[in-house]
Amino acid sequence: MLDETARLLVHGYSWLPALRRDNGTGVAHTRVMGQRAVGLSGPDAVRFFYDEDHVQRRTAIPGLVQSTLFGHHAVHTLDGAAHRKRKGLFLQAMTRPDVADLVDHTAAAWDDAVTAWRPGQRVVLFDQAARVLTRGVCRWAGVPLADADTAPVARDLTAMVDGFATLGPRHWRARRARARREAWLADVLRRVREGRLETRPGSAVDVVARHRDADGEPLEPRLAAVELLNVVRPTAAVAWFVMFAGHALHRWPEHRERLRGGDRAFAEAFVHELRRFYPFAPFLGGRAVRDLHLRGEAIPRGSLVLLDVFGQNHDGDLWGDPYAFRPQRFLDRPIGAFELIPQGGGDPVTNHRCPGEPATIALLRTLVVRLADADYAVPSQDLTISLRRIPAMVRSRFVITPTEGRTAER
Ligand code: HEM
Repeated sequence: MLDETARLLVHGYSWLPALRRDNGTGVAHTRVMGQRAVGLSGPDAVRFFYDEDHVQRRTAIPGLVQSTLFGHHAVHTLDGAAHRKRKGLFLQAMTRPDVADLVDHTAAAWDDAVTAWRPGQRVVLFDQAARVLTRGVCRWAGVPLADADTAPVARDLTAMVDGFATLGPRHWRARRARARREAWLADVLRRVREGRLETRPGSAVDVVARHRDADGEPLEPRLAAVELLNVVRPTAAVAWFVMFAGHALHRWPEHRERLRGGDRAFAEAFVHELRRFYPFAPFLGGRAVRDLHLRGEAIPRGSLVLLDVFGQNHDGDLWGDPYAFRPQRFLDRPIGAFELIPQGGGDPVTNHRCPGEPATIALLRTLVVRLADADYAVPSQDLTISLRRIPAMVRSRFVITPTEGRTAER
């Protein structure tokens, strides 16, 4: 079997769905990064993938991704009891009241930013959203952040996400950003532990500083910084979906009025459709712990198991007319735990599903309504979203020009 790594890098999001289409069972047998790999999707495959008797993470996440996106020895790379204990840290930091506070801080940061907009000014929505989210999450988490540092920190947080799936300049930018921000947060945590920096009890900084792992030991400062970054960085990454919301409101302006009208159920449906329709995580990877079978297809022990996230979110059997952007599809449809998987599937308490999903949804619900409420024009620009680039980006990062200073009051 030929190694497909080069084709993956060239074809991006469409690589795995195309391979799976070649086999009637929807299971692809291939090789990537010099290893045997099996690609899957569908609710039965999600259930299969998240069963720790089938698939483990420990040895499956490439160094390339750890050095940029997650950090080394992060929660993403753990299995079993060690994983559940570390995961508790995130679940404790992201309870429902915590999420409400995070949304309040971020909404206030958005309103400040919009108040400062001047008619005719060029605002790059992706960069603006990243700064707003960075300010919101740092204030909420208890990370001191001077106003002048907001833009460089936002750039670093998004650079780590932008560079995880390439070997080019974006990769090296991501590594440098990670080194800078791990050192920064390790220092914050050291000061908190030594009593030199006050933090609100229950804040993310406080929870990480006090966390003890399955071995009963506190996290050493660099690893604590890795996990604090695993709260702060993905929150800033919600900027991708704010940019995509700008794109969607431009392409399908009929949704704007309904968002402006304060229809909460529609706003939530719009957010689900954003997360389903626009490409972000291409697939998730684990390793088969023994010889396995799915739909009669053999998955040999030791092979990489790739869960095709993009493919499943565009599967015509699950989502009729999957390439149409139709928020209404979520108005009368309960969402099964193994169906909509932009942030993983199953149960976040016991498996690797994203602990930040409720926060992502709540943040977006608030920000897309505010965006729909703002008055701006969309100047001529390159709105292409290439499926070859991981993570996908509106090429222009979505530029708007405010038409009048307006703060949203929602
Ligand atoms: C895991 C996506 C926002 C924290 C994940 C996973 C995906 C994902 C695909 C992997 C699931 C798996 O391996 O099975 C996203 C997207 C987000 C987002 C698309 C929005 C742009 C957040 C936020 C947080 C967060 C706001 C803040 C707490 C994490 C952590 C994990 C994770 C800590 C690792 C969980 C584990 O391994 O148990 N996310 N996420 N994410 N996410 Fe998110």
